[in-house]
Amino acid sequence: MLYDNLTINEKGHLCMAGMDTAELARQYGTPLYLMDEERITGRMRTYKSAMSGYFGAGSLPFYASKALCCRRILELAKAEGIGVDVVSAGELYAAESVDFPMDRICFHGSCKTKAEIDYAVRLGVGFFICDNAEELRRIDAAAAKCGVRQSVLLRVTPAIDPHTFAAVATGLIDSKFGLPIPTGQAREFTRLALSLKSVVLRGFHCHIGSQIFDKQPLCDAATVMAGFAADMRDELGYSAEIIDLGGGFGVPYVESEPEIDIDDTIRLVAEHYKAEMSRRGFGETAVFMEPGRSIVGDSGLTLYEIQDVKTIPGLKNYVAIDGGMTDDPRYALYQSRYTMLLANRAGERADTLYTVGGRCCESGDMLGEDISLPEARVGDLLCVLTTGAYNYSMASHYNCVPRPPIVMLRDGKSYTAVRRESFREMLACQFDDT
Ligand SMILES: Cc1ncc(COP(=O)(O)O)c(C=O)c1O
Repeated sequence: MLYDNLTINEKGHLCMAGMDTAELARQYGTPLYLMDEERITGRMRTYKSAMSGYFGAGSLPFYASKALCCRRILELAKAEGIGVDVVSAGELYAAESVDFPMDRICFHGSCKTKAEIDYAVRLGVGFFICDNAEELRRIDAAAAKCGVRQSVLLRVTPAIDPHTFAAVATGLIDSKFGLPIPTGQAREFTRLALSLKSVVLRGFHCHIGSQIFDKQPLCDAATVMAGFAADMRDELGYSAEIIDLGGGFGVPYVESEPEIDIDDTIRLVAEHYKAEMSRRGFGETAVFMEPGRSIVGDSGLTLYEIQDVKTIPGLKNYVAIDGGMTDDPRYALYQSRYTMLLANRAGERADTLYTVGGRCCESGDMLGEDISLPEARVGDLLCVLTTGAYNYSMASHYNCVPRPPIVMLRDGKSYTAVRRESFREMLACQFDDT
C-alpha cells in the first residue's frame, strides 16, 4: 500500500486509519472525501517541532490553506499552534470564523484587491506577503487609514528551477508571482518598503514551486535568499528579521515517487540556510515555511461508485464514476497521476487497464488513463488516493454537480467536517430569500 495508514481487512475492503472505507461509503454515500485526522495533526507537529528545533526561536510553519480550506483543518492548525497562510479574503474569513489568532496569519496572493487589503488590515492580520509595488502602496494606505503599522514580507523570485511540473513552478525569473532578484526589481521593492510610513518591513519571502522532491533546489533558494538579505543589509542598511522559504514539499501519488522525510529535509535545509546566513555575518533569523500538500495531501482519499463499464473493442475500457473534474480537476488541469484501486475488492489482482471518466459532459473530464484495476463491475467503489490537497479546494459546480462531503476519521470513529451540499445550497445565491 502507498501509505502506512492503509490496510485491507478480512472482507478484502480497503481501510484507512483502521476504518472500512466501503462501510463508510455505504454510510455517507459517494462521492466521498475521507481524511485521516491523526495523520494531519502528526504532520503539523512534525513541521512545528522541526522548524523550531532546526531553524530556532520564532520559526513557524504556516499551513497553506489553499490546499484545503476547511474550517475543521483550520481548527486543527489553531490547536496545534501553527500559523495559516491565506490567499484571499474568503480564506481569511474562514480563519476568522474559527477565531484563528490573527498574529499567526500570512496574507498571500499575487492580486489582492483594495477591499481585501482593507479587510485584512482591519482584522489585524499578522503579515502581508506583498507581491508588487502597487500592492505595497495599497497596504500602506490601508494601514495609514486604520492608524496602524502593518508588518509585511516582500515576495521575491530567486530564479530557481524547482525540478517540478511547469504548471507548479513559481520561482522562475519570469514568474507571475513576486519581483525578481536578478533584475534588480526586488532591491527597488525593498527600497520602496523602507520609504513607506505605515508598513514595517519584516523580511523576504520566496516559494519556488510545488510537488518538489529534490532537496537541492530548496537549498539553492535558501542560498539566494541569504545572499539577497545580505545585499539589502549592505546596500540599504536593512537587516531582515524573517525569511519565508515557502512550501512545496512533494508527496508520493504513485509508487515511483519517493516519500519525503519532512524532519530530515527541514534539518538539511536549515543547516544549509544557517551556514549561508552566518557566512554573511547574520545572527539567527526566524524562518517561516508554508506547507500545504504535505500536510493534508496523503491524508485524504476519494471514493466513487462505478456507474457504468464500457469497452470499445481493441481500443479502450472505460469506467464511469459519479464524480470527476468537479471534485478533482487536477488530471484535467495538469494530467496529474494517481494511484487507484477498488475499495470493495482491494485485495484482488489489478490486471485490466481502464480510463476513468468523470460524469461531466466534457471529453477532458477524466481522473486517469491506463489505470490498472481488477475487472470492474457496476457498483464497485473506485478509490483515488492522495486527494487531501487541491481537490475539495478546487472543486466546482460545473454541470450543477454539488460538492461531496468531507468525513474525518479519528480514533476509530468518523464525523462530518463538511456536509454534502444539497441542490438548494448549491443554488443558494440564485434564490431571492437567501
Ligand atoms: C506562496 C505559496 N506558499 C505555499 C504554497 C503551498 O505549496 P504546497 O501545497 O506545495 O506545499 C503555495 C502553493 O501554491 C504557494 O503558492
